[in-house]
Order: sequence, then structure tokens, then C-alpha cells
Amino acid sequence: MTSKEQLIKKLNKTSIGFKVIGFDIDQSKVDSLNNGKSYIEHIGSDAISKAVKCGFKATTDFSRIIECDAIILCVPTPLNKYREPDMSFVIDTTNMVKPYLRAGQVLSLESTTYPGTTEEELLPRVQESGLQVGEDIFLVYSPEREDPGNPNFETRTIPKVVGGHTSACLEVGKALYQPAIDKVVPVSSTKAAEMTKLLENIHRAVNIGLVNEMKIVADKMGIDIFEVVDAAATKPFGFTPYYPGPGLGGHCIPIDPFYLTWKAREYGLHTRFIELSGEVNQRMPEYVVGKLMDGLNEAGKALKKAKVLVLGIAYKKNVDDMRESPSVEIMELLEAKGAHVAYSDPHVPVFPPMREHHFDLSSEPLTAENVAAFDAVVLTTDHDRFDYALILQNAQLVVDTRGKYRGKHKKVIKA
Ligand SMILES: NC(=O)c1ccc[n+]([C@@H]2O[C@H](COP(=O)([O-])OP(=O)(O)OC[C@H]3O[C@@H](n4cnc5c(N)ncnc54)[C@H](O)[C@@H]3O)[C@@H](O)[C@H]2O)c1
Repeated sequence: MTSKEQLIKKLNKTSIGFKVIGFDIDQSKVDSLNNGKSYIEHIGSDAISKAVKCGFKATTDFSRIIECDAIILCVPTPLNKYREPDMSFVIDTTNMVKPYLRAGQVLSLESTTYPGTTEEELLPRVQESGLQVGEDIFLVYSPEREDPGNPNFETRTIPKVVGGHTSACLEVGKALYQPAIDKVVPVSSTKAAEMTKLLENIHRAVNIGLVNEMKIVADKMGIDIFEVVDAAATKPFGFTPYYPGPGLGGHCIPIDPFYLTWKAREYGLHTRFIELSGEVNQRMPEYVVGKLMDGLNEAGKALKKAKVLVLGIAYKKNVDDMRESPSVEIMELLEAKGAHVAYSDPHVPVFPPMREHHFDLSSEPLTAENVAAFDAVVLTTDHDRFDYALILQNAQLVVDTRGKYRGKHKKVIKA
């Protein structure tokens, strides 16, 4: 029996109930998981302790890679300070895994990345181990798809795209994911799978850029963009609603499109839609601050020395994830202009350590007196746990970036 046949047989036989080892270089995460504790709000600790009881183990010991039939890499793929792909995590992890590769394994990259990464970065490193890719060992790319906080989907019900370096790699890739995922979607190459993920995220970034531009035009014309989007969304075909906001957040949409921009340059191509929507979306925090200044000005106040409460610092509603959150950029702009900034977020009790942002703040309790004590509140993230009636009743001025207050209210400015 060939390595491929043996591995497919093993994966098929296992069905659901794989024995899983989690590798990380962060000892604190490993300890937390082994103690049955989750460090991500939307994944409950009960799910982790259940997995631990079923044999899940986390470790920093990469020599245990040799025990694994399937190795899935899902390490960060951020941008560096020049907004170029930072591949160091993918490369470092592949180098750490390499000494423990053996025949009869499948290696799957899940990190979002530019087309060509699997072939250019993983393939040569795997080949250095002396193993024949497609015969001894199998290489696939299968992008991660997740919408944290969305109750309508779970891992099993989100279709999973898979591309293999060879047809044998693809067969093994399908055998790996099929037991756990209802619908596996094979594509013809790792490059096609890599590009699929980028198209999904670029589609969102461009459409959000479009609606953010429409918001500015609508505002000048005295039209509520949220009313317009909702009305347009009643069209039963050919329209998908996207909502404007204070800017792009999260680890995907503000970052991933620029992976393609960077790679396209190698082919002498410019990704103009990506650049343009990036430009519009990146201007949003300044637009919001401009609207706040207008509102304060109307009340005869300056932003300098004004007390401003930012409502919601996670990048989207009902989660605690703050990566690339536009709220934090707004807080920095406000502070740079001399405002006294505070925040309230039921999901983020203390402003956490971040790579590029520092605030020594804790979440303000959202009481009537507290809200009234601020010259303005800026609603940046529309968490369900906020008391919107209390905010409207007590705030001196509300800058609403999420369309939470529909219709006309004297003290609400839409931004
Ligand atoms: N989280 C999501 O919702 C999501 C959705 C789709 C795609 N992605 C993509 O998946 C990838 C990972 O995203 P994430 O949100 O899990 O990132 P993350 O920042 O949470 O990092 C994942 C983990 O990788 C660990 N790590 C770093 N270097 C390592 C190494 N050399 N070996 C082992 N572990 C290492 C980190 O300590 C961290 O715990 C990214 O490419 C992202 O774009 C994430």
C-alpha cells in the first residue's frame, strides 16, 4: 500500500474523533488550554475542558510533530510596518516542524495568504527533508473561515475549500477534512485555494469601502444611509447589504487584501479597487472625529479638553476581539487633539496590552450619571449589551457610527 493509500485509510477509519495535539510557542496559552480554560470569549471553557477529557493536549514541544498524521498550520499572517506581508510566522513554524516530518503525513496551511505561498514557502522546505511531496508526504492549502459571534454557523457547517499541490495531495486533503466538515470544496491547486480566501475578504473590503463613500455623499444630501441600505436589501436578487461604520477592523478585512496587492506587483499589476477601498476605509476614523468636532462646535465647545466616552472598543459587536479595531484609532486621534478619552465596553473590562496601542484605562460603567458627565459619547461598536435608551436619554451629544439611532434625534449626529 502506498503512503497515500495508508494515510487515507487511517483518516477514513478515524472518522470524527481524531486525537488532537495543539502546538503553540506561547506557554501561557498552552497552560490555559491544558487546564481546560479558554482564552477566547466566544469559545467557552466547557468546550476546552470537554476536549481535554477526550484526550486533547496542548504543548510547546515540537518534537511531538512526529506523532501526528496531519499537521495543520494556522499561524498569524499580519502586515509589517510597510504594509507588506509578514511571512515570518509561517516560515518560522514550517522550519520548526521540518525536522519532525516523516512519510505518511499531510501538511495543511490554513493561514490567509497570497497565491503562491504554499508552493514558494512550504514546498521547498518540505522537500529539504528529502521526502517526495505527493508520494511520501502531502501538501495542501485550506483557508480558515470563521465568523466569531455568529450563532448561525459552526465549524462543521461552514464549507471548506481545499487545494492540493498534486492530485494525490488533494485526495488526502479531502480525506482529512471530510470527517469533520459537512461540505468540502475541492479546487484545482493550492494557488486557487489561496486566491479564493483573498477574493472573499477583498469582496467585503471593497463593498464596505463603497458603502462608506455612499455614507458621506448621503450625509451631505441629508439622507440616512442605513435607511437606504435596508430599503435596497429588500431587492430579492442582485444586491447584498453592507453597512458603513467607523472603519475596518479585525485581523482579516483590513489586512488580507494587501497580501494580493503586494503579490500583484510582482506581475506588474496594480490592484486599484483594493487600494481605493483601503483609502476610503482608512479615512473613516478621521471622518468620525470630524463629525464629533462639528457636534461639539455647535454646542460652543472645542474638542481640546472635552470629555469623550467611546462606546465599544472591540472591532465588532458582541465579541472581545480588539485586533485592528478602528475604535482604538479614534481614541488615539481624540487624545492627539487634547480630548480626555474614556471608554466603555462590556466585553473588554480592561484595555489590554496591544502591539502598537497603549491606554491605561478600564471600562467605564454605563450609568446615567456617568454618561451625562461626558461632553460627547461616540458609539463605535454596537454591542447588544449596551442600554441604548439610557445612552440617548442621558448623553449630551451622541455620535452614532453604526446607525443604531434611526430617524432624527436632536442630540444624535450620524457618522
Ligand atoms: N481567527 C479567525 O477568525 C480567522 C478566520 C479566517 C482566517 N484566519 C487566519 O488564520 C491565521 C491565524 O489567525 P488567528 O486569528 O488564529 O491568529 P492569532 O494571532 O490568534 O495566532 C495564532 C497562534 O499562533 C501562535 N504562533 C505564532 N508563531 C507560532 C509558531 N512558530 N508555532 C506555533 N504557534 C505559533 C500564536 O502564539 C497564537 O497563539 C491568520 O492567517 C488569519 O488571517 C483567522
